[in-house]
Amino acid sequence: MTLAFLHWDHPSLPCFCDPIVEFRLDRIRATPETLAALFGLVMGSDSLATSIRVHSLTHEKVAGIVPLQVNKEYDTTGGPSLCWPLVENKHYQVTIFGFNAAFPKVVPIRDIFVRLPGSGEEEKSDRLLALSNHFYELIWNNDPDVPPDFRNKFYTPTSNARIQAFRQFDWLYEAFGGPTMAGEPSRAAHLVSKVRAKHTTSRMTLSHACTWLHLMERALVATLSDGDPVVLRSLRYYWLHFYSLYPFSDDDRRELRQVAIGDT
Ligand code: HEM
Repeated sequence: MTLAFLHWDHPSLPCFCDPIVEFRLDRIRATPETLAALFGLVMGSDSLATSIRVHSLTHEKVAGIVPLQVNKEYDTTGGPSLCWPLVENKHYQVTIFGFNAAFPKVVPIRDIFVRLPGSGEEEKSDRLLALSNHFYELIWNNDPDVPPDFRNKFYTPTSNARIQAFRQFDWLYEAFGGPTMAGEPSRAAHLVSKVRAKHTTSRMTLSHACTWLHLMERALVATLSDGDPVVLRSLRYYWLHFYSLYPFSDDDRRELRQVAIGDT
């Protein structure tokens, strides 16, 4: 694995994910869209490149920190895109500018569970499980919104909607800071490696990723629409965070963002 390390640096904006992220240079390009998805920032794509600054931590003590230049490159789809030239094993600081009250609020991923609707741990768990059950029922009950090639990725003779929903719920519970995790250090890296085998490159196509978002949005509206709007927004940003770990192009990410959160 070829890793660089990204350190979140904003005095008043809590970090959406881990304050230090292991960034896989061998798989992902450090573009403004990727970093925005990773850190739960959506500020309008035009301003992303100027709103996010990245600088090498080795320059920290030099007066007047010099931001890393963004390179113009061509991505896999042939379109021009901006990309920070990160280097293996180096640490970088990510700073956000232009943050203001209009910036859509999200809660850190780890605080999502406690902010779910429901009065105690059990009720919140039931609500999260209902979300996963609804999502997998759409797939397994032949909903017309589910393209056959997407459905085929999930169908196996020995599984069913309940089993798969429970696996998804169990994982999200941990990712969202379910109480048994309280006080423990973040296990984001362990969580990601747990699901990697199920999210191969052939599965994580743009079309599948969009279908997933459409179905999850339906599940969200059906099961959690009485929840705090900030938490609902955080869930949608979380799906984009998950996709930031996969090698989508910037154009793809813009499309995914549009599907997940529209213009909000
Ligand atoms: C934000 C998007 C997504 C999230 C958060 C997500 C999360 C998860 C989780 C937590 C699991 C259960 C892992 C386990 O067994 O421990 C899972 C399973 C799976 N996911 Fe995803 N996933 C996403 C998108 C996708 C997409 C786009 C595909 C493409 C087809 C996909 C295909 C699958 C498959 C086939 C399984 C195995 C189902 C099972 O046997 O339990 N996922 N996913």
